[in-house]
Amino acid sequence: MENVFYITTPIYYVNASPHIGHAYTTIVADVLARYHRLRGCRTFFSTGTDEHGDKIVEAARTAGVTPQEYADRISAQFRNLWPQLSVANDYFVRTTDPNHVETVRCILQKVHDAGDIYFGRYEGFYCVGCERFYMEKELVDGRCPQHETVPEHRKESNYFFRMSRYWEWLIRHIEEHPDFIRPERYRNEALAFLRDPLEDLCISRPKSRLTWGITLPFDENYVTYVWFDALINYVTAIGYPDSDNFRTFWPAAQHLIAKDILKPHGIYWSTMLKAAGIEPYRHLNVHGYWNVDQSKMSKSLGNVVKPLDLKDKYGLDPFRYFLLRDMVFGLDSSFSEEAFVQRINSDLANDLGNLVSRTMTMAVRYGNGRVPKPTEAAAEDRLLEETAARVVTEVEACFADLGLHKALIATWEFINVTNKYIVEREPWVLAKDPAKHARLETIIYNLLEALRITAVLISPFMPGSAAKVMDQLGVADTASRNFESIQAWGGLRPGNELKRGESLFPRVEFRAEETGKAHAPAAAAGKEVSPIKPEIGYEEFEKVDLRAAKVIAAERVPKSNKLIKLTVEIDGERQIVAGIGKDYKPEDLVGKTIVVVANLKPVKLMGVESRSMLLATDAQDGLTVLAFDRPPVTGSKIR
Ligand code: MSP
Repeated sequence: MENVFYITTPIYYVNASPHIGHAYTTIVADVLARYHRLRGCRTFFSTGTDEHGDKIVEAARTAGVTPQEYADRISAQFRNLWPQLSVANDYFVRTTDPNHVETVRCILQKVHDAGDIYFGRYEGFYCVGCERFYMEKELVDGRCPQHETVPEHRKESNYFFRMSRYWEWLIRHIEEHPDFIRPERYRNEALAFLRDPLEDLCISRPKSRLTWGITLPFDENYVTYVWFDALINYVTAIGYPDSDNFRTFWPAAQHLIAKDILKPHGIYWSTMLKAAGIEPYRHLNVHGYWNVDQSKMSKSLGNVVKPLDLKDKYGLDPFRYFLLRDMVFGLDSSFSEEAFVQRINSDLANDLGNLVSRTMTMAVRYGNGRVPKPTEAAAEDRLLEETAARVVTEVEACFADLGLHKALIATWEFINVTNKYIVEREPWVLAKDPAKHARLETIIYNLLEALRITAVLISPFMPGSAAKVMDQLGVADTASRNFESIQAWGGLRPGNELKRGESLFPRVEFRAEETGKAHAPAAAAGKEVSPIKPEIGYEEFEKVDLRAAKVIAAERVPKSNKLIKLTVEIDGERQIVAGIGKDYKPEDLVGKTIVVVANLKPVKLMGVESRSMLLATDAQDGLTVLAFDRPPVTGSKIR
């Protein structure tokens, strides 16, 4: 294994507070960094915040403060969150830091001097949410595919990075380095982006439109495009261009991101590095998305999961364990509090927690309060030792290819074999027979050594709990807490003083109503009822033609989990599209008489025409459609 490890997380936008998605990436990076430190690698772990651009200006305006004040406030939330989640990063980059601004200007100048930046005109569709231009063909029904908003059409003169020049080089690099982008599905996705020739990248914004950015070193009238600015954070953090850290860590650089930002990292950043004469990074590690109870997490749905809420309710290590155990790296996962509680009770309270408390109780009860000396090894102990050796090797292999959930599964196999060892060896029977004392001591030693090995294996994931187990075992030296010390059986020193501790993972109860409160749409969580609008006269109300409409047919709009296409009867048949797909099944709507605005101008939603709008409101657990308690006459006017 290499002796240097550099891991980065994306630097997070400061337009919203941290949620479980940010926590996941950062905790994965922390687990990897902790593991490499425990392997004796020189390790550097960097995270930070991305603070320039339109998005932040807009968020600051809404909050009524300056962009700098806003960035300071939210950046601090991220910075302060990490220690509370036991994330031990070595560096925290802010794109407003003077050293970062310098690094960005230095790289821009370098690329400009090399002839890879030129001035030209640009016209395109700009999505503020993505902070990028889209080509018309990339839009879905004229909307941004990520945000489903209509992008602005912009025409302006700008600076361009000659990304097109590196198109063939990048394809070759990805092909020659199969693990440059991993897992493979994302490598394939990157290669798919590269099927068409690369276009040049617009890397500036005129100051007449945006001043909240880094001024180009070669033209004062422009600021740098946020992605060009943000990606450079990865070399700022280690002191590019001439610090020792840069020389040491850059050759080992690994980025960790979710699938949403594959393109800027896989394509823009790789080619930017090439143009700036910097070696490409080693790996781009791409994970999937956390959804919540099968839905995309979003502020408007009110289902954003806050890491500190879960930590406060269930404890930090269970939270870290659950995130790492329940997501297969690279695939999406759906967070459910019920599944979380089940994991705590089965894996943590039952398997691991019980193993620690049973072992410590027996060790203290049958011994003199110290780790005994093993003497009488028997053939029947071999399975435990062999499992330990195999699991340690397996865990190391899992770390090498990011199978972190598999590392935990393997560790739990060892925990279960150890629990079985207790049941089969029956130490409580041996304790009754003084002639079997030496054998009992060996068994207790083996159990305590199994706990030490388990503690090392879990320590990247649950550092606090691992330390508690080590303290109970009286292991104080760092050498007995690292991965080197579990390469062979028997690293636990006889004579260590044992200290029984409190239960590591108390059982918890799942209470559905509380979960509802925490994660249901905002209505249930005391959503503010929107203020009453200014008064209008009856004639104005009369303009809205509300009708009772009978639903004759309903089906989902393809590729949308929200939209349902309904055929309703009013004055004849009409098609309407409604965003109630998460709350209703199409078949449940057929036959209902609902209320619609019959004279609303037609619109297209995901390419499907809607010629009315139905009325709905908030219920405890989502949306509820307005209906009647006696069947009205179809098409009749609502007064
Ligand atoms: N500022 C850019 C990144 C610049 S890096 C040079 C950005 N910021 S972000 O705040 O939107 O963060 C995106 C990242 O947050 C994802 O790539 C991922 O690491 C994490 N996640 C955000 N939501 C997530 C989920 N729902 N699930 C998993 N991770 C998610 O993009």
